[in-house]
Amino acid sequence: METSEIRRRFLQYFEDRGHTVVPSAPLPSPDPNLLFNVAGMAQFVPYFVGQQTPPYPRATSVQKCVRTLDIEEVGKTTRHGTFFQMNGNFSFGDYFKEDAVKFAWELVTKPQNEGGYGFDESVLYASVYYEDDEAIDIWKRVAGLPDDRIVRLGMKDNFWSMGIPGPCGPCSEILIDRGPEFGADRDWEAGDRYLEFWNLVFMQNIRGEGGGKDGYPILGELPKKNIDTGLGLERVAYLLQGVDNMYEIDEIYPVIEKATELTGRKYGAEHEDDVRFRVVADHVRSALMLIGDGVTPGNEQGGYVLRRLLRRAIRSMRLLGYEDPSLVELLPVSLEQMKKSYPELVTDFGRISQVAYAEEEAFRRTLTAGTTIFDVAVRDTKASGAHQLEGAKAFQLHDTYGFPIDLTIEMAAEQGLNVDTEGFRSLMKEQRERAKADARAKKAGHADTSGYRELREKGVTEFTGYQELSSDSQVRGLLREGAVAPFAEQGETVEVVLEKTPFYAESGGQIADEGLILGDGLKLKVLDVQRPVKGLIVHKVEVVEGVLRAGDDVHAAVDHEWRVSACQAHSGTHVVHAALRQVLGPNALQSGSYNKPGYLRLDFAWSSALDPATRSEIEEVANLAVRKDLPVSAQYMTLPEARDWGALALFGETYDEQVRVVEIGGPWSRELCGGTHVKHSSQVGALTVTGESSVGAGVRRIEAFVGMEALHYLGRERALVRLLSENLKARPEELPAKVADLAERLRVAEKELERMRAAQVLEAAAELAKDPKDVFGVQYVGHRAPDGVNGGDLRKLALDVRGRMPSDKPAVVAVLSVNDGKPGVVIALNDLAREWRLKAGDLVRIAAEKLGGRGGGKDDVAQGGGTDAAGADDALSAVEHAIGHQVTG
Ligand code: SER
Repeated sequence: METSEIRRRFLQYFEDRGHTVVPSAPLPSPDPNLLFNVAGMAQFVPYFVGQQTPPYPRATSVQKCVRTLDIEEVGKTTRHGTFFQMNGNFSFGDYFKEDAVKFAWELVTKPQNEGGYGFDESVLYASVYYEDDEAIDIWKRVAGLPDDRIVRLGMKDNFWSMGIPGPCGPCSEILIDRGPEFGADRDWEAGDRYLEFWNLVFMQNIRGEGGGKDGYPILGELPKKNIDTGLGLERVAYLLQGVDNMYEIDEIYPVIEKATELTGRKYGAEHEDDVRFRVVADHVRSALMLIGDGVTPGNEQGGYVLRRLLRRAIRSMRLLGYEDPSLVELLPVSLEQMKKSYPELVTDFGRISQVAYAEEEAFRRTLTAGTTIFDVAVRDTKASGAHQLEGAKAFQLHDTYGFPIDLTIEMAAEQGLNVDTEGFRSLMKEQRERAKADARAKKAGHADTSGYRELREKGVTEFTGYQELSSDSQVRGLLREGAVAPFAEQGETVEVVLEKTPFYAESGGQIADEGLILGDGLKLKVLDVQRPVKGLIVHKVEVVEGVLRAGDDVHAAVDHEWRVSACQAHSGTHVVHAALRQVLGPNALQSGSYNKPGYLRLDFAWSSALDPATRSEIEEVANLAVRKDLPVSAQYMTLPEARDWGALALFGETYDEQVRVVEIGGPWSRELCGGTHVKHSSQVGALTVTGESSVGAGVRRIEAFVGMEALHYLGRERALVRLLSENLKARPEELPAKVADLAERLRVAEKELERMRAAQVLEAAAELAKDPKDVFGVQYVGHRAPDGVNGGDLRKLALDVRGRMPSDKPAVVAVLSVNDGKPGVVIALNDLAREWRLKAGDLVRIAAEKLGGRGGGKDDVAQGGGTDAAGADDALSAVEHAIGHQVTG
């Protein structure tokens, strides 16, 4: 039975029994603790825990899932796939254990010609949670299973949760005995002989934090008793298709076949190649499905998983001896199989394949560049008798050749070596810190940071700007051109460090505060604020009045309006980020941002342009959050705590022990952030998205105005529409049609004009041909046509005139016109003229020289032009002169 048929029967069976068919949720998980959906129940969690009222009492779905924890196992066992589908039926406080068992048993054992799966009852077993007597009773009564085919197992096997706090419950599984060749009698643990294929979870508890499958506390009961079942679609497929493992089912095997064809190697020869073929087929399918759901290859989170899958597939093909681009061959084969259940893949295939092929291209470049270095490193390591590749080598491969560490580890393992990953990581960390210090120093304008460090040694600058906008303070020191100086006078621009300051130093995308620092007879205008070394805030100031000295008492005051707008913009950035992720999914992660009063922009991981409807939706979600007046707050915690909380952190950043988490409306938006923010989301004011564009492969940029700037922007747009409306004498809503109509009419008119101009130009031909000048026996027509004749028409004219002239005398025709300020010339000769050794190409070059340009062509017709229209008449006489010269000389 085809996989798509198994799927169809499942949905049909449960739909016939009152279940609403719900489409699969996309692969990326909305839960920040999980990268991808790993179970069918994930999208129903709010119904199980009572957060939302379910719109239906029963549901059924086939959920796309990706699990990559066991990626190393793929191809080695019979059942580890990275992408798989889980058929499920769900009850939200409706039916419970008895019906769940009844439905599952009926569908599994009903003959195939009656719409069931037709499994032989005599080889089926049920496992139950060890103390669940009720389930045992039901299996006996409803399924007629004898005692010796019901097995009680512990929490590890028969208690199910998502691996994170949330709903959970005891479960019961249907197992199939595949026979003694797959393992020992009653060995439930090994998993191959007694293969579990349908898990019925009696979802009734809620669990807390804790590791492993049995190391967490049960916190209590769910409001209702629910059912969540999961039937492994691939498992049923390989059982019903009579193959040994999931890689050989109809949805996957054709890719293996194609790979054997490409590589010329055999599959099924019990060779290590088998694993490679399976890795290829499994990973290609997973990549197809992931890209289909909007994931793009990247260096973090889901993007990294995808990159790793693609790279492992490509490398496996290379290990199988196939060096050419392979995805272009394999991906379409996978599509052919998967489109039966996912027709949307066909329409999306342009985008999907583009992403995949580009990644392969990039990876091939990486491999070519780094493999030699890798090989040398392996040789040296082995020669020295070591078994470990140095961290420094792994770092060099990463830093210079873009080899991800996983790849180095895998390639080293193939050579029997391991890698000093600790050494690698510490070098990575050093490099990140160096880069940051360099960037800060550059920003502050000095590569030499000794002046800053000298001031930093006197202590950390206290930042008071979260609580107040002005602070009394003291000048700790100042720097001129990077060196500590005792004083600065009026008119100078220097850098000042205060004991404490309310001025926000540029960081996290937010630009520095503006304002004044005042003292006794002293006025400093703050031009910029930076943190060139950790713990030190430096103000770049212009001394507007007085003399600035170290030790001066001062009053530092941020421009109030500036800060209010800056807060609006920064909170607006968080709001847009949260809205983006809500609309596009959790993969739309920020990769950079910039905000200043009234304006914000945010770069995020995404590979395609957002269509106008999506853009409006993001804007709408953002403005709704603003309108809801969500509270904005900040708190400090450790990084692991922040992660547990689902706070978003930027990849590659190094954070302090204590991090600051800024929340907007509790979990609605949680980000690690040191910036300044409004107190309530409504204070962001209006927010209007003005643009969306690409800023490199896989990265888009969204821009918006906030607060008054948003209103000004809309006001400008309104004025523009009014102006257009007045000028075009149309109501605003009629403008698009009006403009389209005008453009069309203009196009028609221009065409007509062009036709008429050409006709007019050509009309002159007869007259011109009648009146040539005799230049030492050569009939010469040198004509300046009206302005505006294009090259094509000039050529037509020249040829027409030539054709009308008698062929028994040598003839030269030169026509010239100035089009858009640029002169162009065409020269045509008849055969006799050429016998007289005249050449159109030579003549045109002479003409073009006078026009300040160049030209050329064949002997009979040539074309040229220039930039100097003033030389037009000279050009024609120069041609005449050249003819005379040639003929007489
Ligand atoms: N949630 C259970 C599982 O994933 C049953 O759907 O196995």
